[in-house]
Amino acid sequence: MTPAPAKILVFDSGLGGISILEAIQQQHPGCALIYCSDNAAFPYGTKPEAQLIERVGKVFARLDREFHPDILVVACNTASTVALPHVRNLVRAPVIGVVPAIKPAAAIAQTPRIGLLATPGTIQRSYTQSLIDEFGSHYDWIKVGSSELVQLAEHKMYGGIPAQSSIEKIVAPFTQFSAGELDTLVLACTHFPLVKQELQSALPGIKNWIDSTSAIANRVGFWLGELGLNGNTLHAMDRSHQIVFTKVLDEKENIAQVLKKFHLGKTSILDI
Ligand code: DGL
Repeated sequence: MTPAPAKILVFDSGLGGISILEAIQQQHPGCALIYCSDNAAFPYGTKPEAQLIERVGKVFARLDREFHPDILVVACNTASTVALPHVRNLVRAPVIGVVPAIKPAAAIAQTPRIGLLATPGTIQRSYTQSLIDEFGSHYDWIKVGSSELVQLAEHKMYGGIPAQSSIEKIVAPFTQFSAGELDTLVLACTHFPLVKQELQSALPGIKNWIDSTSAIANRVGFWLGELGLNGNTLHAMDRSHQIVFTKVLDEKENIAQVLKKFHLGKTSILDI
């Protein structure tokens, strides 16, 4: 008998974590995926830390009880940089967090500066500063925190077109440097790879675009091995992942394209 596929839960405030889900699907096509968008509490990036820790813990514990995943991924820098120790205490399965990719950026940049684009919450975290101190203290970090960019990326996932002029305004602090002065940008929010094309046209001088997507998929592979699970048992034909929201969508929120592209066959609401 074929063993049951490994069950992986991917969680974010909204649809940003889909960038992580996509990388996991590519590397481990046989896993059964449950995606959760905590849309009732979106966005996370402007919330006080204590409120966020409480909310993420509550949603996490409920998702764990409901789905019994083998591995949980907090596909959100804003939540991971503050709530990881708390959520790890709540569940028995391994929890993978997504934190700003400071270390890989510091390993590749050829300029004295590196750009860091994240939510206002992630930019302010002491956790983010400790990563900079540990791995990138020899660089000058140009930090931009934007919740508006999160909203634009979320809007795009629901079928909208993000205004390029708004994106240009958000990233303007990076454009004062030439390509020889700033060649690397860290996308430290899982929503931002979803608007990478738009960011690339606004910032043609950036050579190295660093995000955490493939590193997280590698980490999932590590845990699949540790747990003795096979990430390839689910056949393409049976592949039907699911998506959970914490609040009913508005009429204008059109999710059809996302459901189709990522094989999210079942949609449900968990009132949390
Ligand atoms: N996608 C999330 C992150 O990686 C946060 C977006 C938000 O809700 O502010 O930080």
